[in-house]
Amino acid sequence: MSPMITVTNLTKRYGDVLAVDNVSFQAPPGSVTGFLGPNGAGKSTTMRCAVELTPATSGEVTILGQRYRDLPNPAARVGILLDASAQHAGRTGREVLTLGAMTLGAPKARVDEVLQLVGLTPKEAKARVGTYSLGMRQRLGIGHALLGNPEVLILDEPANGLDPHGIHWMRGLLRGFADAGGTVLLSSHLLHEVQLIADRIVMIGRGRIVADGTVDELIADHGNLEDMFLERTATTSREGFAA
Ligand SMILES: Nc1ncnc2c1ncn2[C@@H]1O[C@H](COP(=O)(O)OP(=O)(O)OP(=O)(O)O)[C@@H](O)[C@H]1O
Ligand SMILES: [Mg+2]
Repeated sequence: MSPMITVTNLTKRYGDVLAVDNVSFQAPPGSVTGFLGPNGAGKSTTMRCAVELTPATSGEVTILGQRYRDLPNPAARVGILLDASAQHAGRTGREVLTLGAMTLGAPKARVDEVLQLVGLTPKEAKARVGTYSLGMRQRLGIGHALLGNPEVLILDEPANGLDPHGIHWMRGLLRGFADAGGTVLLSSHLLHEVQLIADRIVMIGRGRIVADGTVDELIADHGNLEDMFLERTATTSREGFAA
């Protein structure tokens, strides 16, 4: 099947900083693609460019065959979680989702479906987001991304703050989403986390793609992924690095 997210020669510069350097990769439907890289590697920048929150310096990203801005009703087709801590602290979880559903034109009943899907209890849904633990915020953020029944999920560090139960839950949720034909791109700076949740890995270091394949392929080619990850994404010397 044709890829649902296609990043082609994407470059993003912030002044002197080359945050994303000629990045190309694809995320196919029916799988969970882990976008793995250390802090500052360019994961969030790539995702922000993909959904046009920030303009690319050059290159292009298409989602479902079109640029994000050209998609009809993009927020309903592409579920996005870019910063789980950005939710309004004074609103309750239910209010956040209800407003989201209204914005999308999703039926009100979707709010309860989503609360159940992400495992927030009615009592938790009534509490203000400011009182939520990080894990609860991630659940709410994923719920928000799922509101419009999207075909594609773009999640920046969704497992950040989740305990092992939460990671297990997320793996099941995203696996189910992908098995139903959905496309998931999720970022993480932790190899272990990506190996638990994703079936494909796109590895980025200092703005460049340094490995790309299914987890099984990468293990077959490289053996110990931890060593490969550390080696290929080392941040000490930009020069002398061969991609
Ligand atoms: N708005 C901005 N202005 C200037 N530089 C930025 C901006 N956003 C990101 N950068 C720089 O771009 C590079 C990539 O940052 P980015 O946030 O994409 O990394 P990341 O892989 O998401 O890291 P982390 O794991 O810490 O979230 C870093 O050097 C960062 O300092
Ligand atoms: Mg980031």
